[in-house]
Amino acid sequence: MLPTADIDRLRDDLLACGYTLDGLARRLGGPALAGLGRNSSVAASRALGEDRDVQAAAVRLWLLQQPVPATDLAGWASLPGLRAAGLVTGDAELRATVELKPHGSDRSEGWICSDATPLDGWVGQPREDFVLGASPASTTLSQLVPPGRYGRALDLGTGCGIQALHLDAAQIIATDLNPRALELARISLGLSGVPVDLRLGSLYEPVANETFDLIATNPPYVMSPPGHARLVYREGDFTADGLVRQVVTGGAGRLADNGVLTVLANWAVTPGQSWAERLDDWIRPTGCDALVLQREVLDPFEYIEIWLTDAGLAGTPEYLPRYHAWLDYFAAAGIEAVGMGWIAVKKSGREHPELRFEDWPHAVHQPVGQAFGDFFAAVEPFQLIEPDFLSHRWQTHPGLVQETLGDPGAADPQHVVLRQQYGFGRALEAGTALAAIVGACDGELPLGALVGAVAGLLDADADALRDEVIQPLRRLVLDGYLLPG
Ligand SMILES: C[S@@+](CC[C@H](N)C(=O)[O-])C[C@H]1O[C@@H](n2cnc3c(N)ncnc32)[C@H](O)[C@@H]1O
Repeated sequence: MLPTADIDRLRDDLLACGYTLDGLARRLGGPALAGLGRNSSVAASRALGEDRDVQAAAVRLWLLQQPVPATDLAGWASLPGLRAAGLVTGDAELRATVELKPHGSDRSEGWICSDATPLDGWVGQPREDFVLGASPASTTLSQLVPPGRYGRALDLGTGCGIQALHLDAAQIIATDLNPRALELARISLGLSGVPVDLRLGSLYEPVANETFDLIATNPPYVMSPPGHARLVYREGDFTADGLVRQVVTGGAGRLADNGVLTVLANWAVTPGQSWAERLDDWIRPTGCDALVLQREVLDPFEYIEIWLTDAGLAGTPEYLPRYHAWLDYFAAAGIEAVGMGWIAVKKSGREHPELRFEDWPHAVHQPVGQAFGDFFAAVEPFQLIEPDFLSHRWQTHPGLVQETLGDPGAADPQHVVLRQQYGFGRALEAGTALAAIVGACDGELPLGALVGAVAGLLDADADALRDEVIQPLRRLVLDGYLLPG
């Protein structure tokens, strides 16, 4: 365990040698940083050349997993503490046992401490309590959270502490089942100056009777057969998607009023039930609103191959036996495919919750957190104003564009598409009248007046046009094309 005073010393040492995001960008340059993003150390090593300054030594030690002469870091006040905590080993030649990466978020600039990312095609089997660094999945989850300042926030399964670094909340609680994860998270958060209440335990045990305004989690959702060593960062000992179900239902049950739960998840696709019905069964009894997007569906073979490779088993004698055992497990559990996606749940406390389940494999405009927030906000006025929807003023989202397609020189386009250049990137082909009404929504006139005016322009019956467009217009509000004026 690295004492807090040594975390402070380490931060001073890192800052003094410019081991920061800006410092590395200047020192290493774009191709080297891009190479590290691909888990290749070569361009960064070449950028450092034979240099023997302290910043170069820090990069070699913490990022490139290379040995460093102790004399290169002789001035570091944090070294004795790092050695005592086992984070650095060796006498004349130092090696790091963890990775320390500069990391920035809207809230803080600091470092992430995790187990070392395998570099340069290294293939091996990670230790069971391996602590992942910031991964693409971590970034995806942090972008799902509706922006805003929260009161109490929970980062469930914090790992290296990456989500907690991004949460904007008065009080942050982070939990993990893995004590090593909590220790590395403590270092990440301490170095980054983000105060977090860290608690050890499974799922919601450490926060049993507490409620939260935000819960964000990238849980160990991999569905794998029992009977072999588990990698704690990716799999629990639940059957099928039982762990994700517990995360979702337990989380919904711990939301404060208007609290939001965001989950990155996998779920089982089983015979006789659609994925949406399965998740509806989990979420509807909680009484919460929900927007769930299935981003991808993998067949069992693709899924198993990904996770066998992730475990470092490709090319080993264990690969095929484990593959078959996994297939047998899926067959016995009735798992025909695996859905992967994003779950957002809000405790709105309304009598008739709004639950939306969508297949959405399309590209989105990150961060999509705002689009989830807009959906939950739209549900409220949408239901409240149902009797007089048309008397309200609406305006188009500033990121909405209209695309038209038709023969050159034609008076009217054959197709009009309203396309979101934001959020989920939805697009809708609109008829002339609907496009004209939407185009006129500038927050000034009530919707009913715009419908009447467009009916006049098109020489159409106003009542008939209203009946035709009212449902599409409601859907446009719910889907984030129109915002309250
Ligand atoms: C996929 S990692 C996510 C880490 C980090 N939050 C992120 O976004 O990258 C899942 C984390 O959940 C932790 N974990 C595994 N089983 C758990 C359980 N039953 N309760 C709480 N945390 C658990 C793992 O140790 C790991 O840190």
